[in-house]
Amino acid sequence: MTTPDITPDPQNQQPPVHHGAWQSLLNCTWRTPLGLMGISVTTISITLLVISLFAHMAGLIDNHYASIFTFLVLPIGMLFGLVSIPLSCFLHRRGWFGATLSADHLTINLSDPKHRKTIILFLVLTVINVTLLAVVSYEGYHFTDSPYFCGVVCHKVMDPEYTAYQRSPHAKVSCVECHIGSGADWYVRAKISGLRQVQAVFQGNYSRPVPAPVEHLRPARDTCEQCHWPEKFHGKKVKTFISFSNKDQLEPSVQEIALHIGGRNPVTDTFEGIHWHVSNNIKVQYQPMNDKRTQIGRIKVTKDKGVTEEYTVAGAEESTHEWRTMDCIDCHNRPTHVYDDLEERIDFGLLSKRIDPNLAGIREDSITVLKKEYTSRDEASEQIVETLLDLQAERHGAEFVAKNEQSLITSGSFLLETYLNNIWPAMNVTWNTYPAHMGHRYADEGFGCFRCHDEEHSTNFGKVISQDCALCHDEPN
Ligand code: HEC
Ligand code: HEC
Ligand code: HEC
Ligand code: HEC
Ligand code: HEC
Repeated sequence: MTTPDITPDPQNQQPPVHHGAWQSLLNCTWRTPLGLMGISVTTISITLLVISLFAHMAGLIDNHYASIFTFLVLPIGMLFGLVSIPLSCFLHRRGWFGATLSADHLTINLSDPKHRKTIILFLVLTVINVTLLAVVSYEGYHFTDSPYFCGVVCHKVMDPEYTAYQRSPHAKVSCVECHIGSGADWYVRAKISGLRQVQAVFQGNYSRPVPAPVEHLRPARDTCEQCHWPEKFHGKKVKTFISFSNKDQLEPSVQEIALHIGGRNPVTDTFEGIHWHVSNNIKVQYQPMNDKRTQIGRIKVTKDKGVTEEYTVAGAEESTHEWRTMDCIDCHNRPTHVYDDLEERIDFGLLSKRIDPNLAGIREDSITVLKKEYTSRDEASEQIVETLLDLQAERHGAEFVAKNEQSLITSGSFLLETYLNNIWPAMNVTWNTYPAHMGHRYADEGFGCFRCHDEEHSTNFGKVISQDCALCHDEPN
């Protein structure tokens, strides 16, 4: 604790007091409102903090509001209390010095057993407080880095990303492993921009939807490559695409492609195939023509010995956007916040029989139900099953609906689940708000490989970036 900074006046000695000066000081603290509050707040915070820390460590508490209380509210209370106590002494120093105390009494005399006792007590309390704060800040540090904190505390804003994340292959990878990565500098940057985001949330002026691409996402090679490294994958990967049509809900059309995943070829030791773009001896850079990076102007490939090749397209000169080094995110922009494609999801429902394919017209009606706009997720929850029943009744009559009610309700529940996994009207997140760059399904909207592989970007010598189907995939054999 700080000693009041008052110069003693040797002429004006006070008569000796009965109890020790330190004790008087403490006693006085009790009598000021600020001091009293400081002591109570500290005592209450510390007691609750110790109890809830033990409860957390023993796994008795698994509630995020309790965590916020433990790791944010209580430590702030404790610090606030601890600061108020000396502050109250300081503010009231005049009164006390006039009455019972003189600055002389505040000298510490180690041969006085009372002083020794007080000092030992003070040291013990300080050690306990510091230890407690250290444990809390360590646990709090991990808590503010947890998906819980990112996804739940900011519930309304992050709900779409958090929901999509929870059903992705990366559901057990914490947000910070992709968004921040290791190293103190990125940690500090993230916490600073985090504070700005918290402010935006309180003021309600954040963007809806949260914009993609994330402008200053850490280069993926620092984050993804903690777990995946392109030296490791190679060869081909067969992928099967199964779809139905409104005309045929029973027999799927099946398309199999063998993707030339590539990576390092262990025989030739060179990078090839799709992961060639992230070879360790090649750098592909590009200059987008818009913020969404859906239109690409110039592309520059720098090879091993500094040889470069530049491709451009008509209009590229106008772009003033920053150059970007291509990394994992330029193709895998949706590794974890994966939103469904509406028709693909309905086809999955038909295939897995969660939508009954024997109900004539159910595919078309499902599309209508899901494309319809609902003002909120609650409204959708109330209306989706009903809407499907109505559409089927229009198509087949009320008797049909009564007969197939159970299977229509099961199908409707699947549609509702699909809706709730993908649409957030309050955040303006709807079908296709966040398309994926993988492949060329959304090429018309400027997403995917054909942003560059369009046979239109060319070098001075007329070499273009190929759109030959066999460059990227072939029929599996
Ligand atoms: C496997 C890596 C990974 C994990 C884990 C991850 N993210 Fe992301 N996230 C990304 C990538 C990559 C983007 C950028 C997409 C883009 O730029 O188009 C992104 C984008 C976002 C966006 C911007 C909006 C959008 O959908 O593009 C938000 C918000 C977000 N993440 C929040 C979170 C939260 C909250 C968590 C944890 C619950 C999390 N992320 C976990 C990789 C990840
Ligand atoms: C902390 C480790 C970790 C990090 C960081 C990580 N991943 Fe993964 N990733 C995994 C694991 C584990 C799997 C396998 C999940 C499975 O097989 O179900 C996986 C799976 C994948 C897959 C295959 C998904 C599929 O549908 O089969 C892709 C693609 C991928 N990750 C890309 C990325 C990208 C891009 C990043 C960086 C933005 C990234 N990962 C960051 C651990 C990680
Ligand atoms: C040029 C686009 C592109 C880039 C850049 C890219 N990938 Fe991929 N990656 C793909 C495609 C396409 C696939 C196969 C698609 C699928 O499985 O659906 C794939 C597949 C994968 C898989 C799954 C492999 C498997 O055998 O299932 C992982 C993991 C992966 N990529 C990680 C990465 C990482 C990490 C980076 C950055 C170092 C990266 N990719 C860069 C396009 C790319
Ligand atoms: C930013 C531009 C850009 C994007 C986006 C892009 N590519 Fe490329 N890609 C290139 C360039 C440039 C080359 C090299 C062309 C050459 O040298 O002939 C290339 C070459 C390739 C090659 C041949 C690699 C080898 O073995 O030499 C494959 C395969 C390929 N890309 C697949 C993909 C796939 C799949 C995607 C989408 C998931 C994709 N690319 C997205 C720019 C891009
Ligand atoms: C630059 C690389 C590249 C080229 C060139 C390319 N594709 Fe693809 N294609 C992909 C990738 C990557 C996927 C996988 C998408 C995914 O995993 O969702 C894909 C998926 C597909 C699919 C199945 C999924 C869908 O979108 O319907 C079909 C069909 C297809 N390609 C046809 C073609 C045809 C036909 C050509 C030639 C005109 C072609 N592709 C050229 C990269 C390419």
